[in-house]
Amino acid sequence: MGLPRVLSGVQPTGALHLGNWLGAIRNWVELQSSHDTFVCVVDLHAITVPHDPKQLAHDTLSTAALYVACGMDPEHCSIFVQSQVKAHSELCWLLNCVTPLNWLERMIQFKEKAVKQGDNVSVGLLDYPVLMAADILLYDADLVPVGEDQKQHLELARDIAQQRINANFGSKEEPVLKVPKPLILKEGARVMSLNDGRSKMSKSDPNEGSRITLLDPPELITKKIKRAKTDPQIGLEFGNPDRPEAENLLSIYSILSKQSRDVVAAECAEMGWGTFKPLLAETTVAALEPIQSRYAELMGDQAELKRILNQGRERAEVVAEATLKRVRDALGFLA
Ligand code: TRP
Repeated sequence: MGLPRVLSGVQPTGALHLGNWLGAIRNWVELQSSHDTFVCVVDLHAITVPHDPKQLAHDTLSTAALYVACGMDPEHCSIFVQSQVKAHSELCWLLNCVTPLNWLERMIQFKEKAVKQGDNVSVGLLDYPVLMAADILLYDADLVPVGEDQKQHLELARDIAQQRINANFGSKEEPVLKVPKPLILKEGARVMSLNDGRSKMSKSDPNEGSRITLLDPPELITKKIKRAKTDPQIGLEFGNPDRPEAENLLSIYSILSKQSRDVVAAECAEMGWGTFKPLLAETTVAALEPIQSRYAELMGDQAELKRILNQGRERAEVVAEATLKRVRDALGFLA
């Protein structure tokens, strides 16, 4: 296929939330019609911190089902589970052996996560970005849509490909690996916490009230929005740095109601929070309803889901194995 290629993934840890959908998956859905799109559930990344095996198996399937429910069309893209394509682990090892340790020790996300793990930091957590580089480089990806927080990891993947593999084991005419470009997502890319308009909506926030998951039932959505942090001002607006909650909730409303920012800004300019919140709740419930019903269908018929994942794995393997062979050959492994 001549289309530019895209690769991305999300970890199967806990239910996906509005931030994952609006910030990541929604963009993949757009890209799949104009790009050769590969999306994976990165289950190998999920075990870089302590995990529960039963939960992992369930979350892996559930995350894949949500990709489809959000509009990833298995006929227009390849959806697969990272651990089922063995080339990810193998390329990760090969890249490990050319990646300087100090490149990993300075990764911001590693430092942040390591603090939370105390004495129990695994080698895998340190190695997380190299596995991510393997994910990306295996597919000769042209573009990698990621949020702002993953920019440093993408830079690392580029440096490994360019400086460590191509420079040492390839030639100018025949680079071993394609050097990918980031596609940093802008509008709506950062959905913020319901409790704090200045921090990102996150799966790891211990307070479940801080996020709306794609599987929350209507009553729970309404309750979480009702309790969301507000400020004492009447009327919602964009662009006021002192009102991050207004910015965030109005932005979510704009995306979910499919109305432009100007239109919602005018609609809500004089609206009190007591009127706005039920409106936002109703809009959110309505936007998630089709996703939830498609999800229930898929989880109720796992044969179909597994067929989709098998098909995705087969397509992924063709590309991944070819890249892995190039790297093995370049590094001098016996065929
Ligand atoms: N680290 C990414 C995140 O937390 C997930 C990820 C793993 C990923 N491998 C990837 C994203 C490859 C894009 C491409 O969001």
